[in-house]
Amino acid sequence: MPRTVEWVGGAVRIIDQTALPVELKYVDLVSPEEVAEAIRTLKVRGAPAIGVTAALGVALAARDCADTAVSDKALAAIRLLGETRPTAVNLSWALERMRRALELSVGEGAGSVRQRLLREALDIAEEDKRLCERIGVNGERLLKDGDTVLTHCNAGALATAGSGTALAVVYAAVRGGKRIRVIADETRPLLQGARLTAWELVARGIEVTVICDSAAAWMMKQGRVNCVLVGADRVAANGDAANKIGSYSLAVAAGEHGVPFYVACPYSSIDLSLRDGTCIPIELRGEEELASFFGRRTVPQGARIENPAFDVVPNRLVSAIITEKGVLAPPYDGRLA
Ligand code: MRU
Repeated sequence: MPRTVEWVGGAVRIIDQTALPVELKYVDLVSPEEVAEAIRTLKVRGAPAIGVTAALGVALAARDCADTAVSDKALAAIRLLGETRPTAVNLSWALERMRRALELSVGEGAGSVRQRLLREALDIAEEDKRLCERIGVNGERLLKDGDTVLTHCNAGALATAGSGTALAVVYAAVRGGKRIRVIADETRPLLQGARLTAWELVARGIEVTVICDSAAAWMMKQGRVNCVLVGADRVAANGDAANKIGSYSLAVAAGEHGVPFYVACPYSSIDLSLRDGTCIPIELRGEEELASFFGRRTVPQGARIENPAFDVVPNRLVSAIITEKGVLAPPYDGRLA
């Protein structure tokens, strides 16, 4: 798999995910403003990948400025990048690590501050890669040979600096010799499932079927889904899990049909400071994402449009949370910490 995000000496190189699956296009971001714009417009997206990219954006800000301005520029970048997307806690988690690294460098020369910031950002990326592997290894035992996994949005390599979260579980199972099929929800309105998850799985030679979001419950009703496996943008202390809009409907449908609903995420997606999912900020995105389809207006002028990008799956609908530490079954309250 090509690298979703990497440091290429003076630039943050990302895959422009808005161009997939038609074109595999790399973009070099050379300023924190460009990094912020790439995150806001979902050129780079997925909770862990956003955190890694933002951290590299801070290192970038400290690099291209006068020696006397390093701290101010880094702090300004932390503020700018922190405002790009509200739901994925990995973003504020990674930026907080960068802020602490900056604090630790007080009194050091500009060169060593720059080095420290870059090292921290690269550590975050490396750590994410290892976390993905562990999530895969821990989660794969939930899958049986011959299983069909339904997933939503993209929680794969394109959403992380490694092999993914939910899809890392699939990859580990396949590596272990299990035959796994994937059903990928299209994931309206930006089609991360159809464009990104299907692209990733095809590239790895894993059988994938794309369905429109509203077909998921019907697939379950027909007994064609062994489990639902999704990532998360933020998990509250009680196990309520925010993920791409549509995850809640999937969880309700899974509960109705007795299909296990699994959430896979690293510790950087868990926000123990929030009691429950009602405290998770939900990103509202622009009307234009819904108003037209492939350049053609599909909603009449005058109709109101609402576009929440995430929803929250209540803990009672989550059969297990898979992290780098292991697999946790309910109850989560208190035990997640
Ligand atoms: O709006 P996106 O594409 O950034 O939303 C991403 C998701 O909802 C993913 O499922 C989530 O970040 C988990 S990624 C490992």
